[in-house]
Amino acid sequence: MTSTGTRSFLADDDLTPAEQAAVLDLAAELKQAPYAAKPLAGPLSVATIYDKPTLRTQVSFAAGIAELGGHAMLVDGTLAGIGKRESVADVARVLGRQAAAIVWRTYGQDAIEEMAAYSGVPVVNALTDEYHPCQLLADLLTVKEHKGALAGLTVAFVGDGACNMGNSWLLAGATAGMHVRVSAPDGQEPEQPMVDRANAIGRASGGSALLERDPVKAVDGADVVVTDTWVSMGKESEADQRLLKFADYTVTAALMAHAAPDAIVMHCLPAYRGKEIDAEVLDGPQSVVWDEAENRRHAQKAIITWLLEQT
Ligand code: NVA
Repeated sequence: MTSTGTRSFLADDDLTPAEQAAVLDLAAELKQAPYAAKPLAGPLSVATIYDKPTLRTQVSFAAGIAELGGHAMLVDGTLAGIGKRESVADVARVLGRQAAAIVWRTYGQDAIEEMAAYSGVPVVNALTDEYHPCQLLADLLTVKEHKGALAGLTVAFVGDGACNMGNSWLLAGATAGMHVRVSAPDGQEPEQPMVDRANAIGRASGGSALLERDPVKAVDGADVVVTDTWVSMGKESEADQRLLKFADYTVTAALMAHAAPDAIVMHCLPAYRGKEIDAEVLDGPQSVVWDEAENRRHAQKAIITWLLEQT
């Protein structure tokens, strides 16, 4: 839910296929000409709030907001006591009077939806338990740079399919017209409604989504192989049992041999070498992880600029 007349980016499929393509085109343009768009000139402030650990997200938003002519106002969510000391709705109404947009990394999707419903300014999801849509814009920009186009490519996501990155790949990949295969152990698959939602998007975009338990079959002929940590933020207490559960889902050189010969390997980072991905793959020639990390800035500048233009 979003305030009337204000667009937010809370989940990957908040953008239609045409809108996603426009944002990715803008990201590519801003990568070439970093100071070409100044929607935050003044400078206007963007409130940035991180309730979970962050490196790439905080620095790429701060750098990107500065390049857009604005100021990244770091709001300490613990000091503010969002949802405890004051309701999310009241925090949203206050922030919306000070900032041109709000960027929030938090836990529940319901909280960020409430923020967007009451802020009156665009809200950008900088990762929730459910989605990581800014990462996906950066990832799709990266795939486009390496493959020339997105539609029709096959992506294999191997590992924790039940996490934000699994969900976001399903929705964003399908929006881009890609064929997304998710390979996860029993109990760690994305929920079926998420797969159905991706397939519904795919009926218009030409993309598709499916679950494939066997990682070798999932990776077979894939153009893009993606993984993510087996222990997402907030799941640390399950770490030991997760290491056992995911043991057959490491992205190894042997697994990569089943992908297309020119396949690229992606990881949103932080990576745990020897667990979800072997060092020789992460640090090898097929890996594009540093491009992904850089492209966070370009993609986020594009979504902020685009959202402000819609308002
Ligand atoms: N699935 C991971 C992504 C980290 C950027 C997590 O939520 O911790």
